[in-house]
Amino acid sequence: MERIQAAIAKARAERQGTHDTAAPHPVLGNAGQHDISGHWEALPRHPLDPKVAEHNRIVQSGQGGESAAFDLMRTRTLKMMQENGWKRLAITSPTAGCGKSTVAINLGLSLTRRDDVSTILIEADMRRPSLADKLGIRRNYLAADVLRGAAPFADNACRISDRFAVSTNDRPVPNSSDLLQAPQVGEILRQIEQSYAPTLMIFDMPPLLVNDDTIGFLNHVDCVMLVAAAEQTSIKQVDESEREIASHTNVLGVVLNKCKFSGGTYGYGYDYY
Ligand SMILES: Nc1ncnc2c1ncn2[C@@H]1O[C@H](COP(=O)(O)OP(=O)(O)OP(=O)(O)O)[C@@H](O)[C@H]1O
Ligand SMILES: [Mg+2]
Repeated sequence: MERIQAAIAKARAERQGTHDTAAPHPVLGNAGQHDISGHWEALPRHPLDPKVAEHNRIVQSGQGGESAAFDLMRTRTLKMMQENGWKRLAITSPTAGCGKSTVAINLGLSLTRRDDVSTILIEADMRRPSLADKLGIRRNYLAADVLRGAAPFADNACRISDRFAVSTNDRPVPNSSDLLQAPQVGEILRQIEQSYAPTLMIFDMPPLLVNDDTIGFLNHVDCVMLVAAAEQTSIKQVDESEREIASHTNVLGVVLNKCKFSGGTYGYGYDYY
């Protein structure tokens, strides 16, 4: 009798992928093959510290014009992506410091204000990662380890809210271009998508015109949002960037950030077309 029960338990464990001797899943690790909501629940929670958020211009819900601007960006982004069947969005800018990472986080937070949307934000700026600092996150493994296939997603990612997961690097990673263009990256992203079924995956990229990290990664995304900074980015840089992106994938739109005359409380301004 005991042997039969042991055999049934073993068969059940094998069917569910939770048997001790099963090799760890490359993206899920020992979490096994649970259902999608189980995978989300297995990600550790990391609620935002309001002081860290305010310091880093992270807009929480109900912050008047600031959150309304991001909600508008969210609605336009979702509409365009869903109409085209696009799921992966890269955010970049012509040069450094235009506000890519700030926009990526705020867009992700705005998306989670919709009950029917889940979002995964992935740090893809290996040279100057900033999502970990902006969100106050420290994990044992890096987003780079996940993309290398050296750590399961759940050992690096955490949940800012029920349906918003973030994968971060808390320090620069060498050989970023090689890593972002490595052959296993496509398969790992596909597995994350399959396991967590996010509505959108957002990649916080390095600046486009500074090195080849972003261009080498564009084959993994469906579209790109270009962030330009008022009084910093020239029309020529926007043109050049749009042309470069369009030769690899789709241009979703250009966001004009740091616009002084937008009427935003903190000088935020986003024009999106
Ligand atoms: N709308 C805005 N108004 C004023 N300052 C802003 C705005 N958006 C972002 N910033 C500030 O500009 C700086 C750069 O922002 P952020 O780190 O988001 O840019 P980035 O494009 O990701 O930079 P990097 O190229 O280094 O990755 C930060 O100090 C950020 O707080
Ligand atoms: Mg950045």
